[in-house]
Amino acid sequence: MYTLGIETSCDETSCAVLKNYRVLSNVTISSLREHAKYGGVVPEIATRLHLKNIDKVTRHALTQAGVSLNQIDLIAATHTPGLIGALVVGLNFAQALSLSLRKPFIGVNHLHAHIFAPFLNNAHPIEFPFLGLVVSGGHTEIYYVKDFTKISLIGKTRDDACGEVFDKVAKAYGLGYPGGPAIDRLFNAAHKNDFSFKCGKIGFDLSFSGIKTALVYKKLELEKQKSLDRATMIGLISSFQEIVLNTIVSTVLEAARTLKVRRVVCGGGVIANRSLRRKLSARASANLQFLIPPFEYTTDNAGIVAGLGFYLYNKKSIRSSLGLEPEAN
Ligand code: KG4
Ligand code: ZN
Repeated sequence: MYTLGIETSCDETSCAVLKNYRVLSNVTISSLREHAKYGGVVPEIATRLHLKNIDKVTRHALTQAGVSLNQIDLIAATHTPGLIGALVVGLNFAQALSLSLRKPFIGVNHLHAHIFAPFLNNAHPIEFPFLGLVVSGGHTEIYYVKDFTKISLIGKTRDDACGEVFDKVAKAYGLGYPGGPAIDRLFNAAHKNDFSFKCGKIGFDLSFSGIKTALVYKKLELEKQKSLDRATMIGLISSFQEIVLNTIVSTVLEAARTLKVRRVVCGGGVIANRSLRRKLSARASANLQFLIPPFEYTTDNAGIVAGLGFYLYNKKSIRSSLGLEPEAN
């Protein structure tokens, strides 16, 4: 069965074609560069560029997959959460395709799609229950997943998302946008304990806005004293990354122990972070497995949307109405 997936929740316009769970193509045009000069995603620009690029990525995805539109059996698209204007473009496009091709349509939750990433290409058997760990630009959440139709939120950030804090700290230190990859590259393990900061934690909930503010004030203080050289900056950024990632890892481990779960399934842009991937892998044991997706499926892409759409469609033949509305955050 061929599934066509569409993802437009933020600044990536993406279309994928899957044959069952095998990814035949996954084409993404990112409007990242257009937003870089503003230091963050500008919703209006993202919406306009989705409109400009959506048919282009769809054509490319079909060509790359060697599949024609008429061969598509199912259409899946992100309907929540995300920027409202951005969601409207992809959702309407997918619903219109479904209507014209007379093929079923399914709306997918983008966060749930992130934790489908490790299952693409049948890389792992889909077995429940597990903990889902989503660490992205807009969200930091831990789920108890009995099935992709039975997902309970057990922990989340109470303020900024992890990726958002990486982006904001990087912006304050002039490291460019997006900040996550810049901080990942700058990180130096020899300097990860140079400074001591703290993240907030209440149960399985987290808080990152305090550490962000601390980093911004530390920079102002050191600049005033004229002592912010590059080595100090690397120490600050490395310590920041180390503490944020350690907090996430220890919280998810605590949740797995408490809920007696033997599997943690990870997804979201920040899961591309090399140090986070190493930390998670290092905590794997006979009693606890970490499923970490390949880099290409960590950040926003339509492959994960199509994969989850296909799973849900097979499960009780779920399908969505063509009147399904987009829901923002
Ligand atoms: O999942 P995603 O593509 O979009 C959302 O759904 O939000 O995540 C984007 C976020 C950005 O904040 C970006 O800075 C962060 O993921 N990110 C990283 C890395 N690559 C992307 N953060 C840390 N290290 C990375 N290597
Ligand atoms: Zn995402």
